[in-house]
Amino acid sequence: MTDQLIIFDTTLRDGEQSPGASMTRDEKLRIARQLERLKVDVIEAGFAASSNGDFESVQAIARAIKDSTICSLARANDRDIARAAEALKDANRARIHTFIATSALHMEKKLRMTPDQVLEQARQSVRFARNLIADIEFSPEDGYRSDPDFLCRVIETVIAEGATTINVPDTVGYAIPELYGAFIKNLRERVPNSDKAVWSVHCHNDLGMAVANSLAGVKLGGARQIECTINGLGERAGNCSLEEVVMAIKTRKDYFGLDVNIDALHIVAASRMVSQTTGFVVQPNKAVVGANAFAHASGIHQDGVLKARDTYEIMRAEDVGWSANKIVLGKLSGRNAFKQRLHELGVELDSEAAINTAFAAFKELADRKSEIFDEDILALVTEQDAHQQADPFQFISLAQQSETGERPHASVVFSRDGREIKAQSDGNGPVDASFKAIESEVKSGAEMLLYSVNAISGSTESQGEVTVRLQRSGRVVNGVGADPDIVVASAKAYLSALNKLHSNAEIVAAQG
Ligand code: KIV
Ligand code: ZN
Repeated sequence: MTDQLIIFDTTLRDGEQSPGASMTRDEKLRIARQLERLKVDVIEAGFAASSNGDFESVQAIARAIKDSTICSLARANDRDIARAAEALKDANRARIHTFIATSALHMEKKLRMTPDQVLEQARQSVRFARNLIADIEFSPEDGYRSDPDFLCRVIETVIAEGATTINVPDTVGYAIPELYGAFIKNLRERVPNSDKAVWSVHCHNDLGMAVANSLAGVKLGGARQIECTINGLGERAGNCSLEEVVMAIKTRKDYFGLDVNIDALHIVAASRMVSQTTGFVVQPNKAVVGANAFAHASGIHQDGVLKARDTYEIMRAEDVGWSANKIVLGKLSGRNAFKQRLHELGVELDSEAAINTAFAAFKELADRKSEIFDEDILALVTEQDAHQQADPFQFISLAQQSETGERPHASVVFSRDGREIKAQSDGNGPVDASFKAIESEVKSGAEMLLYSVNAISGSTESQGEVTVRLQRSGRVVNGVGADPDIVVASAKAYLSALNKLHSNAEIVAAQG
């Protein structure tokens, strides 16, 4: 068995299924470029048949990324698979990932199919896919809760039809490490042609064990591919987190004895990019990428680390990309330094005009803030993306008055499809007043599920980054806005969420 472990990133597909984490094509492309820098082996770029938007994202990523294999999810039917193959046709290396549920519960209640029908559909789909693309992954959805005898029949059948990777999802995060490891081992031992495919693990984090389960699937079960997402993004409690699982394999090579291609230096930048794009803030005590992951507050620890860092540190912060963030730009930095920093951050703007616009925004920010951190640059580019897409709502300006004992008042100027609108309102606070002002004109009727503010780089001079999560007719979107003035950041985030609500992405409910 090989000692190389394949890292399959599904931030752009399973991660995006997290309510409100939907990303635009350009945002996905930018993240895909960062994943390529990280040297991720396989990037699951989306679910091409689920919407035209997803198709275009998969296609754009397939065209732009050269080093990683690009994969599209597809349900086990000819239409989905043909659509995935079409979106992937320009990729250097392409993979179709097809799936069908195999647990008794899912087959009976969701699919309303008999086990024999599911087996037949799995066979036909893999046969069809294999005629289009050589690299085929098959997932029995809810695999961990499936009857092992039936699962063995399905897996043997799809390998015989040419599936090259067999992924065993713990779709609902029910597994326990030893049991999941033994489950994979048992399947590999019982399926007669198991050596013809790479075995893969895909664990959800509902009981907080996605990383532990994935590692057990590798160590005890013999799997050689791990499916994961940046920051553990994903539906409900999320997926196995890439940074944690990769650093476990690297740091405990003595135990796992496996190699991964990942260039860990780009981990922190990838984490920030995903967090800023989706508005899902990383908890400070999150392993590897949390703001406190390498901070020692207690005197005893600090003393120990100063004398010998390995007294309390098992990894080096700079090895996962923390030190890179110390580099700051300021108002004297020129266009070239800015362009170089964009490049180092994995941001490739597609024209000189786009760089000029971003540079102008950078200069404007630098006039108001003496040091510009990486997070500021990423926030600025995220905002610029929204402008490039000519979204209907654009922020123009805001004025607000608040005084102890007085009811706050806000006046917001924004445009809708190029037409300037002036709105004003009172509110419980200046943020509330500015949201009410916007809403008084837009009348979206959306329900606010979340409002959060995060200081981008620590001090009060920092930009505030605001996330607003809105829900309307069952659709959940996140808007993100950044500005040194948090009321302005809030209004921008609100308008950004409205823009997403107004985009008519037709979405097919995906599983997983
Ligand atoms: O969790 C899951 O079962 C999935 C499959 C589609 C692989 O995401
Ligand atoms: Zn999943």
